[in-house]
Amino acid sequence: MVTDLNINDHYKLPKQDDVIFKLVEQYISKRPKSKALYARAQKVLPGGVSYGIRYFEPYPFYTAKARGSRLYDVDGNNYVDFWLGHTALILGHSPPKVVEAVKKQLEDGTHYGTSHESEIALAEQIVKMVPSAKMVRFTNSGTEANMYATRLARACTGKDAIGKFEGGWHGGYDALHVGVKQPFNVPESAGLTSGAIRDTVLLPFNDLEGVKKRLRGKKLASIVIEPVLGGGGGIPAEKDFLKGLREFCDEKDILLIFDEVITGFRLAPGGGQEYYGVKPDISVLGKIMGGGFPIGAFCASAEIMERLDSTRYKRSEYSFHGGTFTANPITMIAGLATLRLLEDGRLINALNRSGDKIRAEVKDIFGKWGVDVQVTGVSSIFNVHFLKGIVKDAVTCAREDKKKLFDYDLRLMARGIFFLPTHNGNISSAHSKMDIEKLIAETEDYAKHYGVS
Ligand SMILES: Cc1ncc(COP(=O)(O)O)c(C=O)c1O
Repeated sequence: MVTDLNINDHYKLPKQDDVIFKLVEQYISKRPKSKALYARAQKVLPGGVSYGIRYFEPYPFYTAKARGSRLYDVDGNNYVDFWLGHTALILGHSPPKVVEAVKKQLEDGTHYGTSHESEIALAEQIVKMVPSAKMVRFTNSGTEANMYATRLARACTGKDAIGKFEGGWHGGYDALHVGVKQPFNVPESAGLTSGAIRDTVLLPFNDLEGVKKRLRGKKLASIVIEPVLGGGGGIPAEKDFLKGLREFCDEKDILLIFDEVITGFRLAPGGGQEYYGVKPDISVLGKIMGGGFPIGAFCASAEIMERLDSTRYKRSEYSFHGGTFTANPITMIAGLATLRLLEDGRLINALNRSGDKIRAEVKDIFGKWGVDVQVTGVSSIFNVHFLKGIVKDAVTCAREDKKKLFDYDLRLMARGIFFLPTHNGNISSAHSKMDIEKLIAETEDYAKHYGVS
């Protein structure tokens, strides 16, 4: 049953819109096998998917294969992929060096559940690259890493309340699943306890005075921030804002957490903290660092991280973390192979230049054809917003014309370019110059023919 509730994770088609419906009909006519798979999926997977945001109308295509910059669907269509597994694949799909390392590991065991050397090697690699990291713990997702980082902050400070920013996405953990989408005062999900919601203070992004005002008289364990709001619209934090936030946290004895699940190993080898020159107390990592396998991690100084040492602390002071698949050897090996390729910064710099080019050219094209578009993002991430004015936070971003964005994304898909509709774009080292030129050319064609409605 499709109800209004599906606006939660994706754009819902308007009831009366012949132009969009024609586009949707074309989509369906080219994807009969995906249609059949979706019908099958609906019987066993709620909403037919394994993650709400992967659904888009009329139904998602089903991927048969992926290689380099390309996704191939079961219907014989292929796409230059600008979604890249939720921004996890900075080297593209199945990069040869990672595949080679993983193949070897497959022969040596897929999961140990005991200590092994590659978990040390990946932790050492992270400590080498991430300025604030001195010790690391691994998880299986960014959500889990944020959850344990929050618990660690609470354990270290003895305080309950935490702060997060409007539009910030840190995964589905109760305490952080607050104020993600507008209206911010409506719970993001059923099943969140009033305690979890009450203990989280929502803060305005890029507005230091606003942060101070909302926190007057409050005692917080931590404030978590994405250096670039990812799901909230690809909006970079202003440097002075981050610096001011760092000083404010020091003054108030609040642990500053950078959620670098997207920005880590992307903005610079040391992530957003290197790019901005601002060090958090705790860093949360994920995505890229798994080399295409499930991962998350949180890291900090030895003084903070020692709270996780079960040999040193009694239960009332110890901050628990663990899990069956933590530091899975395949993920560790894939992550290590990936980070070694990113370490010297050359690949990241090249991607950053391509990101600059895409943002500038897409903006210029729409400007030339008289379409109000803002392109946000930094480094190798970019978001197209159909709106007028400056996008500075998730509040301004929410004014965008989602229908137009859906129309743009669906028309690009018909031309062999994939963005998960209405979500951000990112590039990998597997994207060729031609892949990027194709995006620019198709955007020009779109702006010319369909940009102004
Ligand atoms: C900034 C940020 N933090 C945390 C998460 C959650 O990570 P995961 O989906 O691996 O649980 C995401 C996922 O998109 C993210 O973008």
